[in-house]
Amino acid sequence: MPRFHTIDNLDVAGKRVLLRADLNVPVKDGKIGDATRIERLAPTIEALIAKGAKIVVMSHFGRPKGPDSENSLRRLVEPLSRAIGGKSVHFATDCIGPEARKVVDALKPGEVALLENLRFHPEEEKNDPGFAKSLAELGDIYVDDAFSAAHRAHASIVALAHLLPNAAGKQMQAELEALGAALDHPQKPMMALIGGSKVSTKLDLLKFIIGKVDKLAIGGAMANTFLFAQGRGVGRSLCEKEMAGTARNILSAAEKCGCEVILPDDAVTAGKLEPSVVTRIVGVNAVPMDAMILDIGPASVARISAALGECKTLVWNGPVGAFEVKPFDRATIAIAKQVAELTAAKKLLSVAGGGDTVAALAAAGVEGQLSYVSTAGGAFLEWLEGKELPGVAALAVG
Ligand code: 3PG
Ligand code: MG
Repeated sequence: MPRFHTIDNLDVAGKRVLLRADLNVPVKDGKIGDATRIERLAPTIEALIAKGAKIVVMSHFGRPKGPDSENSLRRLVEPLSRAIGGKSVHFATDCIGPEARKVVDALKPGEVALLENLRFHPEEEKNDPGFAKSLAELGDIYVDDAFSAAHRAHASIVALAHLLPNAAGKQMQAELEALGAALDHPQKPMMALIGGSKVSTKLDLLKFIIGKVDKLAIGGAMANTFLFAQGRGVGRSLCEKEMAGTARNILSAAEKCGCEVILPDDAVTAGKLEPSVVTRIVGVNAVPMDAMILDIGPASVARISAALGECKTLVWNGPVGAFEVKPFDRATIAIAKQVAELTAAKKLLSVAGGGDTVAALAAAGVEGQLSYVSTAGGAFLEWLEGKELPGVAALAVG
């Protein structure tokens, strides 16, 4: 993990701090869903307020093709203000140019402004130096608190970081420290628990992680591809049959580097993915032709539990079953609870991330009980793939 400046040793009194946030929160029917990203930004803003900075918050939202009201950050003004104890948040209808300048120039020390969606300018995603320069005119210091966007080499994340003195915000700092502790210098034995539906989207992750961990447990529909690759029948289950060769290669590479791969021994099956449908628990050698594997079975949960009990570090991405439909959430919830217990007993350092994983932990009621839960999706995955994140690299000192 690279070294970086933090806001603790930053003199920001009376200065304009350009704060890159990730306010790309889920919105449905005009309402904000999970507000974790807003809440986790608050400590950084509050620390900067306490130091007397003029805080200029910038973020992307959605994937707009140009300015559109659907993707305006205006709706974030109220929630952001609430998250920082009701302090008012000024809004600029553009993130560069005279509109932004007017709002930023009017800020007094300790005041906060939010700029309109960075992605309303296509130059943002192109890491355009001219656009970054326009942003830099609005600040004296750059603080990045958007780990969840650190996998994007965009102007407000990379080019801008090189134009001003920079530092990691508190959330970015916590994330880098937690992820560093889990992957760069973990306490061994270490385990990875990887679920989700497709091997194809997690191929780089699997290839990298087998060289890092002592045990790799695979669940979710991606486990079906491995079972199929081993010559087992998977009925009508979700399965990437064309990935069978790749799956076999991963298994033999894992064996070579001494990584124990834990695949399901049994499965919860049903005729369709529907709530409260009739289910059957079967061994993985006996999946009926007309059935679908929708969760891992109790024997598999017991095996993963035993492995967790032997490990000191866990990284987790992806539910092990179709957890959004009951009762196929059972295995994921049982494992989440055990991870929380082992973490509370200080036997396990546990780090989880990814949208589905966070939702599954919340459903199990243990979201706050792991060592660290990342709000990042793509950035967390790329970190698990061992890739250098451009937004983290841009903050590196020396
Ligand atoms: C995310 O939600 O994953 C980040 O905010 C990045 O958004 P993007 O995938 O649209 O770049
Ligand atoms: Mg994304």
